Amino acid sequence: MTENSELQGFYKLPMERRRELLKKAASLSDEEVMIIANTGGLPAETADHMIENVVGGYTYPLGIATNFRINGTDYLVPMALEEPSVVAAASNAAKMARVKGGFEVSNTGPVMIGQIQVVNVPKPEAARAKLIDRKGDLLKKANDQDPMLVSLGGGAKDLNVKVLSTLKGPMVVAELIVNTGDAMGANAVNTMAEAVAPMVEEITGGRVFLRIISNLADRRLVRASAVFEKEAIGGEDVVDGIVYAYAFADADPYRCATHNKGIMNGVVAVGIACGQDIRALEAGAHSYASRSGKYKPLTTWEKNRDGDLVGSLEMPMAVGLVGGAAKTHPAARANIKILGVKTAVELAEVMGAVGLAQNFAALRALASEGIQRGHMKLHARNVAISAGAKGEFIDLVAKRMIEERKIRFDRAKELVAELSKQGKKR
Ligand code: MEV
Repeated sequence: MTENSELQGFYKLPMERRRELLKKAASLSDEEVMIIANTGGLPAETADHMIENVVGGYTYPLGIATNFRINGTDYLVPMALEEPSVVAAASNAAKMARVKGGFEVSNTGPVMIGQIQVVNVPKPEAARAKLIDRKGDLLKKANDQDPMLVSLGGGAKDLNVKVLSTLKGPMVVAELIVNTGDAMGANAVNTMAEAVAPMVEEITGGRVFLRIISNLADRRLVRASAVFEKEAIGGEDVVDGIVYAYAFADADPYRCATHNKGIMNGVVAVGIACGQDIRALEAGAHSYASRSGKYKPLTTWEKNRDGDLVGSLEMPMAVGLVGGAAKTHPAARANIKILGVKTAVELAEVMGAVGLAQNFAALRALASEGIQRGHMKLHARNVAISAGAKGEFIDLVAKRMIEERKIRFDRAKELVAELSKQGKKR
């Protein structure tokens, strides 16, 4: 809460001045201002140009998931996130998948959809036919906006037109089908959609309002699969448990939301590390999961004839290597180098494999010992750190809290004080 949130001209000020104003408005200490000011691996100047009203940076831990073998190639996978256990779980799942050769992945190409909404169309069905007739002209207009993309083999490739029955009556929606190459494509597609809009108005006799990419990227799918040998994952009972877990998610949206959240733990962590638009990834994932009208799992789990577990994943993965933070954020660039991916579809495929691995790890834990034991260990360490434990004290405090079954901030503070006293006496 602040007395007045109207910080006049805030956006025009240099970052340092913004921080001074903020310090006063939010009663920050010098230390708090210093923490916020730290932009980590991102130069302050770059940060200031990435978004508006910048006052500093915010850093996530960066972990590396190991053991990933995807289409016969090994990858080290950078993951940026705040949740304990995720990186360890991904690494562990990837290790188990290696027994049968790792992950197989494929993709449907980097194809996005740009929508142009037309209202007040006198004859919607006739307008639809007219738009299709003029497809060549519309695609040409779209492609004139991005000769570079076209020269690389991308660009607007097709036009889809539908008539929707809406709350406000019939609506014609023209959809540009665009191969965005190594870009996520929002900029290219939005520019094209805006450029063709006047032509669409002229052809349909209607009025265009929205001209924007669709995040339901169902033409930009990634598929991943893996076989997990039953002995490698704890036996046939674990296989059955995971298949039952999948059936639960398939039957119940309350479980399915958490099932898919587990997949997104992996997808989003790699997405953040590699400078991707993770809101687009989330929107794509959940809308795709609902495409049948029912919210469904993005993975399937079955038992094969040998009794081994077979997992597969299919989901949209709109990611890019050119444009956006993947290029401007130095940490994202370094992470893409660690990953070693050369194209956007390769990045998408790796992220699909990580999503599948993450889902496997969660289901395996849930179907056997539960996730809290592993979680609590890491949680206890976090509580110890937040209570001021440093160095060897972190593990000592965490261990004591687990033994006492009291993983609480107040207990951690007491233990830190106790151990510091003992340390001083020694
Ligand atoms: C926690 O971040 C993710 C899980 O809840 C996923 C799941 O339940 O499948 C463990």
